[in-house]
Amino acid sequence: MNYQDIIRWLKCPPGPEVYPLRDRADQIRQQYVGDAVHLRGLVELSNICSRNCLYCGIRRDNQAITRYRLTADEVLDCARKAVDFGFGTLVLQGGEDPGLSKDFIGELISLIKSETNLAVTLSLGERKVDEWAAWREAGADRYLLRFETSNSQLFNYIHPPRDGHAPCDRISMLKTLQSLGYETGSGVMIGIPGQTYEDLARDIELFGELSLDMIGVGPFIPHPQTPLGAGQVSDAGIDQVPGSVEMGLRVLALARIVCPGANIPSTTAFATLDRQAGREMGLCWGANVVMPNLTPLQYRKLYEIYPSKAASTETAEESRDAAFRQIEHLGRTPGSGRGDSPHHLQQTTTSKRKEG
Ligand code: 5AD
Repeated sequence: MNYQDIIRWLKCPPGPEVYPLRDRADQIRQQYVGDAVHLRGLVELSNICSRNCLYCGIRRDNQAITRYRLTADEVLDCARKAVDFGFGTLVLQGGEDPGLSKDFIGELISLIKSETNLAVTLSLGERKVDEWAAWREAGADRYLLRFETSNSQLFNYIHPPRDGHAPCDRISMLKTLQSLGYETGSGVMIGIPGQTYEDLARDIELFGELSLDMIGVGPFIPHPQTPLGAGQVSDAGIDQVPGSVEMGLRVLALARIVCPGANIPSTTAFATLDRQAGREMGLCWGANVVMPNLTPLQYRKLYEIYPSKAASTETAEESRDAAFRQIEHLGRTPGSGRGDSPHHLQQTTTSKRKEG
């Protein structure tokens, strides 16, 4: 699939003309990663964030939310639930919270690893290389860091660098994470104000070039307590990509085609925009992972990166039951074990063989 093909799929009219894209992605998904849908227990560790991204509801300047950070005991309870529920992975996600120190996260990983066989995925934003190295050393398996958009001008605008710092280069950060041996995931938002079809096509090409193990994409959902959600940014005059489920699904399918062996979740953004069918549609357009939310209920509403996030009022048990029901409804099977990325497993075997 080359750049022109990607553009053609992104721009083709909605309806039957785009179905062959879904069918091809679903067939590749079946061939490379099978019918198993892996379940990841999501724990939203902290909504404290030192960054001020123009799109994100937990940005530093949003004073309308109460801030929280889970204790190690609360996280361990979530880990036990994940085991109980038959999930193979725990995802620890949070804002860039200085209170999530190198030692705190390192010890947390060691505790989870000593008590369970769970794979541990971290999604804690841009951190120092020595922190990433220490966490990997402590046993973390995977790291998620979306590059959000490959248009660096747009990225630097929606994601201002720290005061007095140079613009961030997430592409080189992803390469660092890969060199540390993490299974590495990235992704983008679809429909960021100012994002063009050409930008999005380049994003998809970049998934392939980076040889990602995991890819998470979802529509941009405006949050009224943010500059991008409050309509302060005009997108007049450009060929603006819509932040629709329909466009998001196309990107998901294209991601599957360029990275056939990657693990790709049907993300919460799809379920938020279409409560009835969003998650199942993702699974039909190339996804093979779902991430039921295990965050204790009293914190759930506070992790509002965008408004009306799906599952913000349901218990962990309800999130689990809904996920299993949807998997069964599609005639798929819940994954067993850790659900490592087939792409990563293949790469590590190949490099071991080369070394040997
Ligand atoms: N709409 C959709 N996705 C968002 N994210 C953050 N804010 C929003 C929003 N308003 C996504 C970003 C981030 C991930 C954790 O959540 O892509 O990387």
